[in-house]
Amino acid sequence: MSKDMLLWDETLFKNGEVLELDHVPEYFAHRDSQMQALKFSLKPAMRGMRPVNCLVKGPPGTGKTTAVLKVFSEMKEHTDRVSFVKVNCQMDSTRFAVVSRIYEKLVNIKPPTSGVAFRKLFDKVIKQLVDSNKILVVALDDINYLFHEGHADEIMYSLLRAHEQYPGVKIAVIAIISDVGVSHHFDPRVGSVFLPEEIEFPRYDAEEIRDIISNRVQHAFYQDVVPDEVCDKVVEYVDYTGDLRVGIDLLRRSGLNAERRASRTISMEDVEKAYDASRLLYLCRSIRSLTENERTLLKLVAEQEKDVQAGDLYKSFHEITGLGYTRFYEIIEKMNATQMLDVDFSGKGMRGRTRVIKAKHNPQDILKCLEY
Ligand SMILES: Nc1ncnc2c1ncn2[C@@H]1O[C@H](COP(=O)(O)OP(=O)(O)OP(=O)(O)O)[C@@H](O)[C@H]1O
Ligand SMILES: [Mg+2]
Repeated sequence: MSKDMLLWDETLFKNGEVLELDHVPEYFAHRDSQMQALKFSLKPAMRGMRPVNCLVKGPPGTGKTTAVLKVFSEMKEHTDRVSFVKVNCQMDSTRFAVVSRIYEKLVNIKPPTSGVAFRKLFDKVIKQLVDSNKILVVALDDINYLFHEGHADEIMYSLLRAHEQYPGVKIAVIAIISDVGVSHHFDPRVGSVFLPEEIEFPRYDAEEIRDIISNRVQHAFYQDVVPDEVCDKVVEYVDYTGDLRVGIDLLRRSGLNAERRASRTISMEDVEKAYDASRLLYLCRSIRSLTENERTLLKLVAEQEKDVQAGDLYKSFHEITGLGYTRFYEIIEKMNATQMLDVDFSGKGMRGRTRVIKAKHNPQDILKCLEY
């Protein structure tokens, strides 16, 4: 066997953990002004004052979640007057689920999942804060997923107006929006109590991407595993998609591809092959957050050879789900607003009801993600 071959018990990864998507990296550069802005907003809490609410906004994979988590852990070291809670709104997508999560983080016990009213659980959260004399900072991560059924407004409203009903209680909200070009607006009633410091996370430029990627390469792999041209290719893909997560996932997958070939270095083909899956990361994540009925509908659309008329689509959808036209139409509207479907509302069919519907993304990609 050639000495260039990787033995079965050898690995290319010095520390593969730094390529996990939820890993909080030690090296977090090019976000100083955003980190400063977050710290300034939260700092009043250290003196027992209500912090300033924040609206954190930017395209996918630009470091929003990471920045907030890093600020939380830095501040935790300097104060025990504040409870920092991050909620993943893709997972906890109703007002009840969000408050359950907050309760769980504060008390270290999962609340019952049923038989408790929202109000009762919220009372408990408040009581916990008052009894422990703590200020609560809640990061509502990926809150963009909650806009379409009014949950975002409901949650914000409850958290931000809590002090009116429970004097003395101090809660601040960091709303994190993963911005894919859909506009999100809070209800004016929320807006008037939210009044956030807005913090933008722009896309990284090519030099910043190169710096971040090569640092991650150094931590993740043994020396000489990643040739320069491979690193360049990864940077190019990140620059193209704008999503740093794609680059980190690419590194992980292409490393595994090289190991599968028992190679001591990653080749360009390993990267190309990995890109096939990594490029779908964001789409798959969005699709995972859909409800069962929404996925059914999306599948029906993606399976069509060409554009489909709303009427025909409804027939198939109704056959599978048993749902009526009103519900069908609500789902269509939501998926149009969230950039999943492309609905031509100008279609002038019979009584103006015929509408042409197509998928916003490549149908083959959608079907792949639906399978995962
Ligand atoms: N400046 C940076 N330095 C090092 N790593 C970074 C930096 N910015 C982002 N990353 C890495 O990129 C990945 C994506 O970052 P993060 O999850 O914070 O993005 P996000 O803006 O929250 O994306 P989304 O809107 O999709 O939720 C993470 O693995 C993170 O470690
Ligand atoms: Mg995020």
